[in-house]
Amino acid sequence: MAKGRNCVGLDIGSSAVKLCILKDTKRGLQLQAFDHISLPPETIVDGALMNSGIVTDAISELLGRNKVKTREAALSVSGNTVIIKKITLPLMTREELDESIQWEAEQYIPFDIRDVFIGFEMLAPKTTQGQMDVMLVAAKREMINDYVQVTRDAGLEPMVMDVDAFCLQNAHEANYGFKEQETVVLLDIGSSVVTMNVVTDGETMFTRDLSMGGSDLTEEISRQLNITYQEAELYKMGGSVGNQSDEVLPHEVEKIIGEKAEDMAAEIQRSIDFYSATAASDRIDKIFVTGGTAAIPSLVRIISRTSGVNAELSNPFRNIVCDEKHFSAEQIRRWAPIASVAVGLAMRRTNER
Ligand SMILES: Nc1ncnc2c1ncn2[C@@H]1O[C@H](COP(=O)(O)OP(=O)(O)OP(=O)(O)O)[C@@H](O)[C@H]1O
Ligand SMILES: [Mg+2]
Repeated sequence: MAKGRNCVGLDIGSSAVKLCILKDTKRGLQLQAFDHISLPPETIVDGALMNSGIVTDAISELLGRNKVKTREAALSVSGNTVIIKKITLPLMTREELDESIQWEAEQYIPFDIRDVFIGFEMLAPKTTQGQMDVMLVAAKREMINDYVQVTRDAGLEPMVMDVDAFCLQNAHEANYGFKEQETVVLLDIGSSVVTMNVVTDGETMFTRDLSMGGSDLTEEISRQLNITYQEAELYKMGGSVGNQSDEVLPHEVEKIIGEKAEDMAAEIQRSIDFYSATAASDRIDKIFVTGGTAAIPSLVRIISRTSGVNAELSNPFRNIVCDEKHFSAEQIRRWAPIASVAVGLAMRRTNER
């Protein structure tokens, strides 16, 4: 089989498209390019592309200004229409499963089976005789087709279709590794989705995508202060809009951010509790947080306090060789919160299944 090389990692998020290119070198994975372009609000709603033209233009711009030669891309989807489930099936070969997965999957999918694409990965055989675990992933056909189309329109060929939860896991493994017997919760707190992946011994135990994120904060600031979404976004990032009394507003903004952060942490905790109630062991060793919204300094602290578990901001470039001649430490530091999914995608190879 051809050796393959790294795909262009393309994270089409609801607030921005992120591009990452990695190269496998003797020194390990090396960063070739990272870049991002913001999308106007409502371009992507609940994971669905509402304005494909804008997304294609953003991808084209990213490819052009980074002089990207690679044509093979890895994409991912997320949101509550993406189903990720570990199921137990009778032991069978890959070929047999290929044949029967559609039928086996039907009972786990809340949509018409004809409307979804199904992917699966065979996990280790269970100790119970004659059974095996299979990781089942299903996503709406229409959504996948749209993501493929915008990517093709920008001149790339999608080779890999992943889900954010697994990208996070791959990026985490490359940068931190997974320790035996350890359970970690990976969180990606983006603009409209919070992706959670609970991993024990390097294996996914539970995933969930929650429909909330940074855009809720911006909307709340905009509503309470009666300013535009764009102005609210500026305030949220710690900037100022200029024409108002900036001394009063930042205090108001901070209060709104604090309240919303508490709400988000409580919602995340409900999912952790749900996992704990069904898991064999409810021990959680650590929470790793990423995503643009994780850049809010108080959020990681609040999550840690709410859960009683040590939480830290994770760095997807921790183990990636970043040449100082091309990337300043400051640049890497700014990119880190939004880069995890794109890094996970850029690790995927062109010759993968
Ligand atoms: N320094 C910061 N402080 C507060 N919020 C920030 C900061 N930097 C980015 N954000 C917020 O992070 C979000 C973008 O993060 P990210 O790029 O991870 O989201 P996304 O991938 O586009 O969205 P999603 O995955 O939810 O579709 C935006 O809501 C943005 O306002
Ligand atoms: Mg995202």
